[in-house]
Amino acid sequence: MSHTNTNRKTFSLTTPLYYVNDLPHIGSAYTTMAADAVARFERLRGKSVLLITGTDEHGQKIQRTAESNGLNPQEHCDKIAAGFEALWQKLNIQYDRFSRTTSFRHAGIVKEFFLRVWDNGDIYLGQQKGWYCVSCEEFKEERELLEGHRCSLHPNKEAEWRDEQNYFFALSNYQNKLEALYQERPDFIQPASRRNEVLSFVERGLQDFSISRVNMNWGFPVPVDPNHTIYVWFDALLGYVTALLDPDSEPTLENALKTGWPINLHLIGKDILRFHAVYWPAMLMSAGLPVPGRVFGHGFLTKDGQKMGKSLGNTLDPVELVNRYGADAIRYYFLKEIEFGKDGDFSESRFVDIVNADLANDLGNLLNRTLKMVQKYCDARVPNVRSEDIPSTNPLKEIGLGLSDRVARSYEALAFSDACRELLTLVRASNKFIDEQAPWSLYKQGQLPAVEQVLYAVLESVRLTAYLLSPIIPSITTDIYQQLGFSLDFNDKTLINDSVTYETHATWGTLPAQQNLGNPKPVFVRLEQA
Ligand code: MSP
Repeated sequence: MSHTNTNRKTFSLTTPLYYVNDLPHIGSAYTTMAADAVARFERLRGKSVLLITGTDEHGQKIQRTAESNGLNPQEHCDKIAAGFEALWQKLNIQYDRFSRTTSFRHAGIVKEFFLRVWDNGDIYLGQQKGWYCVSCEEFKEERELLEGHRCSLHPNKEAEWRDEQNYFFALSNYQNKLEALYQERPDFIQPASRRNEVLSFVERGLQDFSISRVNMNWGFPVPVDPNHTIYVWFDALLGYVTALLDPDSEPTLENALKTGWPINLHLIGKDILRFHAVYWPAMLMSAGLPVPGRVFGHGFLTKDGQKMGKSLGNTLDPVELVNRYGADAIRYYFLKEIEFGKDGDFSESRFVDIVNADLANDLGNLLNRTLKMVQKYCDARVPNVRSEDIPSTNPLKEIGLGLSDRVARSYEALAFSDACRELLTLVRASNKFIDEQAPWSLYKQGQLPAVEQVLYAVLESVRLTAYLLSPIIPSITTDIYQQLGFSLDFNDKTLINDSVTYETHATWGTLPAQQNLGNPKPVFVRLEQA
């Protein structure tokens, strides 16, 4: 299906293209869950969304890993790339494109782009001397390295000395243009702390960087000199462009670009900020192309307060986590508990506490006990109340009325934890409201209209919460919606993707009176502490 849609606003976003040196780790899952939540939110409000993810498959690191596994590099890449796609299924990630840098179509795009930059005079042959960290696929400055020329991001690996002829990209030609970009578009790099990092890096003066390798052939040949292989990062960033190609169109740069360039949002981790916020816009400027909308660099995850790593023996396997706890609980924890942009921690006991408190107790029980009361007092149908008749001083209506605007602003700012907090405020107020109003006593006193108003206000608040939480926990919220008598399925892109539905459902007071309700069933079963 073609992505081009003339009457709807489009929104395109990317995760990084993950290295296939190993199976996906929790860091890659983290970025991808965040990207999926943004994509789902934009779809929910009717935009035509293109979520791009994929794998970065060239370079020395991959080549060596394949060799050490006794596989040819392509076989190795195919195997690991399949592992990424399988995890995204499990985590309920609705991506639209999976871009692999070893694809035939990508080769054409890279060649064309390289030649544009070449024709613009920004590539020259020079001598590269320096320390190369294969794990980062990056030359490091002497002062960035730890003792023994070890890389600070990979302290158990030594950087390797290189002294060879490479082609260089004239990044220094873009010093002024990049500075102007950051000035004119203060939102280009987010959050502010990351922007400052980039500004001070650029202020120190930009140096040209090498974009080819010799003695390494796992990659595309340099179009003007096949003895050289294109540097993996130069090739990988272009994977975002290749992803835009409609499946049946010719792989030309023009075809890719007309489908949705520039990308609205690149989501990345803070370790690859320089590539996305400095090198990439300069490469695009050189090729005469517009730069992306914004680059957001999130923080790093630790486990039980410690840096994660294979050598430390404390990795967190996302497949195992999701098998044990289910996708929604994992998505919820990482997006609610960690402020996006800051570093954050995973501890299993904290995880269990949080999801039990928020999803099982506060939200799940609220729905369950309210539905049971409605069965008993109101014939299992939404009480016959019009939201206009509920006074605006009703505490739930008060919170509910401006809620979707506040939540939308949080999603736009990628402040997922703020969105969750706003929604939990309504959930907690609803629990309190029931306790205070005690519909069971009102019922005994024969005050049926009062009972109906209380229950309507609570059901409606659960509904609104579910709707606005659906980008984060799509399956639980679908269950909630179905128990409330709707047929909307938040995992069905075609059912939710229109702005009219959004206008209605994002407004407090939408629940139709007398709608038949489903059977109350717990939407989230409490987890046991391991
Ligand atoms: N292949 C490059 C990206 C090329 S994009 C054109 C790459 N791949 S990666 O697989 O090594 O990293 C992918 C992402 O995982 C990065 O955004 C990185 O920040 C993130 N993380 C790696 N470890 C992480 C944590 N411990 N915590 C959070 N995210 C981390 O870089």
